Amino acid sequence: MKKINLTTEIEELIPEELEAMEKLLIDRAKEVSKRAYAPYSGFHVGAAVLLENGEILQSSNQENVSFPTGVCAERLLLGYAGANYPDSPPTLLAIVAQRAGEEIWAGVSPCGVCRQTINEVENRFEKPITMLILCSNGNVMRIKGISNLLPLKFDDLNT
Ligand code: THU
Repeated sequence: MKKINLTTEIEELIPEELEAMEKLLIDRAKEVSKRAYAPYSGFHVGAAVLLENGEILQSSNQENVSFPTGVCAERLLLGYAGANYPDSPPTLLAIVAQRAGEEIWAGVSPCGVCRQTINEVENRFEKPITMLILCSNGNVMRIKGISNLLPLKFDDLNT
């Protein structure tokens, strides 16, 4: 037997270390999370993305009484971006979350389906996406490329 250890890289930044655009995207994600439709989980997620053309788009999660029908903020956002801006790759994606009735921001990390979706967008445009994830202590995790969140992902129908 051979053991394989996979390493991924995540940067943790204090708020002062964020670049202006990164701060702006986190703020946009916070703003849009207020418009989440999450009556079942009470978990309000906001995501904002910067496209290569400079456009910033944002979305929240939208739930359904039939649970699997609900859509995560990230997936809704990347679907909208792909549908409306097929020529402009997403470059930077910020994700935040807050539980209903709470002041503090909750820690969040994209679910497996969203990770696979981010992977598809990276492959589509042949460009890695940098992800910014707000932590509950106010710091931000910066993750450069989905391979750092989803190693050994399904990538090729022919292998
Ligand atoms: N959710 C997101 O929108 N994004 C994530 O990264 C994690 C989970 C949503 C799905 C569901 O509406 C609620 O949060 C609770 O899982």
